[in-house]
Amino acid sequence: MGFLEEIKRRRTFGIISHPDAGKTTLTEKLLLFGGAIQEAGAVKSNKIKKGATSDFMEIERQRGISVATSVLAFVYKDKKINILDTPGHKDFAEDTFRTLTAVDSVIVVIDVAKGVEEQTEKLVKVCRMRKIPIIVFINKLDREGKDAFDLMDEVEQKLGLKVTPLSIPIGMGYDFKGIYNIWEKNIQLFQDESKQTIGKKEHFESLDDPGLEAEIGSSRLENLKEELELIEGVYPTFDQQEYLDGNQQPVLFGSALNNFGVQELLNCFIEIAPKPLAKQSDTRLVEPDDEKFAGFVFKIHANMDPNHRDRLAFIKIVSGTFERNKPYHHVRLKKKLKFSSPNAFFAEKKQIVDISYPGDIVGLHDTGNFKIGDTLTAGDILQFKGIPSFSPEHFRFINNNDPLKAKQLAKGIDQLMDEGVAQLFTLNLNGRKVIGTVGALQFEVIQYRLLHEYGAKCSFENLNVHKACWVEANTEGNDFKEFQRIKQKFLAKDKSGKLVFLADSAFSLQMTQDKYRDIQFHYTSEF
Ligand code: G4P
Repeated sequence: MGFLEEIKRRRTFGIISHPDAGKTTLTEKLLLFGGAIQEAGAVKSNKIKKGATSDFMEIERQRGISVATSVLAFVYKDKKINILDTPGHKDFAEDTFRTLTAVDSVIVVIDVAKGVEEQTEKLVKVCRMRKIPIIVFINKLDREGKDAFDLMDEVEQKLGLKVTPLSIPIGMGYDFKGIYNIWEKNIQLFQDESKQTIGKKEHFESLDDPGLEAEIGSSRLENLKEELELIEGVYPTFDQQEYLDGNQQPVLFGSALNNFGVQELLNCFIEIAPKPLAKQSDTRLVEPDDEKFAGFVFKIHANMDPNHRDRLAFIKIVSGTFERNKPYHHVRLKKKLKFSSPNAFFAEKKQIVDISYPGDIVGLHDTGNFKIGDTLTAGDILQFKGIPSFSPEHFRFINNNDPLKAKQLAKGIDQLMDEGVAQLFTLNLNGRKVIGTVGALQFEVIQYRLLHEYGAKCSFENLNVHKACWVEANTEGNDFKEFQRIKQKFLAKDKSGKLVFLADSAFSLQMTQDKYRDIQFHYTSEF
């Protein structure tokens, strides 16, 4: 198969949801339909279980599992599908945001009974900002839940999407009979109660099939006809370009656990979802069919074994081919690197590969060369954009508890920050180090890993910060000079040396913004 065909057949996407909506179950069923696994239960959940916040071993165990499930690839109807795993736990939201920089589209899973939940809102907001094509899958139709139309309204209002249903359920909960597939214009009734294998389906091409009325009864049939009329009147017809441009979002219904509507989702997905997309760099738009390799690091995973401090850096291939043992240019370090054992992912296993194509993810063993956002190329000097840091939610001073291990602590902090576990700010005034995280859980992870992987003991001390804002200003201007003098106590540098204002309250941030009109305060590091 030629280079262009290889690109065309790839679909790289992420599944996002609020915890417990069914992301893991859906992933597993997609793999099952793709023939990549033989039975349910093979994919281990990568979620940090509720209540595990102070159980370090549990955190470690979960981290280990997530290496295996970071990328799940399989071939379905000749399409190479790469599913990128996104942690649902809110404390790891930044990990998910970064993974979203490496996907070409997403599937959002929503629980039919719970509707749109908090984490879904946050993640979809990021997708909308980036205009990522979205398919919505409404899950758990085997349970009693909200009315399909009410739910689609909720999705539009809370998530700011413009939906168009591509399937509609017939009944729900105990009375769930099946799905009318608007996309394929057919009906599938599900009868097999088995939760482990793909159930038998009865298939009707038309609503006028007498067998259908016999199966679901005349009142349900009437109801279905009315609903389809309503859909035609109220929702826009599906337009693939609108979907690809991020302006329209198809909705499908089903039950991942019971295999209802999963294959329909997959069939629809491979037809409409985008092939690998171009990505903007600081110098140009890099097209996948550009024959020279370029890619970027979106995730770094530390090894589980504390005796080997090597890590796995996940690279999304944007253009060209990535080949084993070929020298590539590490743009930030300005040096050539060769990789003798790049890992590709297949189902839940990883294996060494000789060649990978745009859309694919390779895992490279790393001894500290990479940090998140790094670009690797066949020689071009360019840097991919779009992996910003967001303002953390929690801030604490980090103190060294063992003066003899200062070096180890500094190295440990440095490497953990490169992995994207948290963000480091250094106060301008006195050089004290402040760690910022999305969730409180990360402080425990950091403390534990510094001790076990670097032999460094640390403690944290609370610091009252409301938000970290990246400062953009004319440094010669009077406004900036005064701001720097008056707010000296609240100024810090991030890890790349950018100036950050650590506002102690929403009020003081507002006052500062009002006072210094010539200064811009950004909630993300890329502006
Ligand atoms: P997540 O990755 O989004 O956090 O969700 P996950 O797939 O782990 O699913 C959360 C729970 O919802 C699981 O139950 C799972 O079995 C259930 N579930 C997923 N899809 C469906 C569905 O279509 N119908 C119904 N009724 N349940 C569904 P659990 O009891 O928390 O875990 P488990 O013991 O079953 O693994």
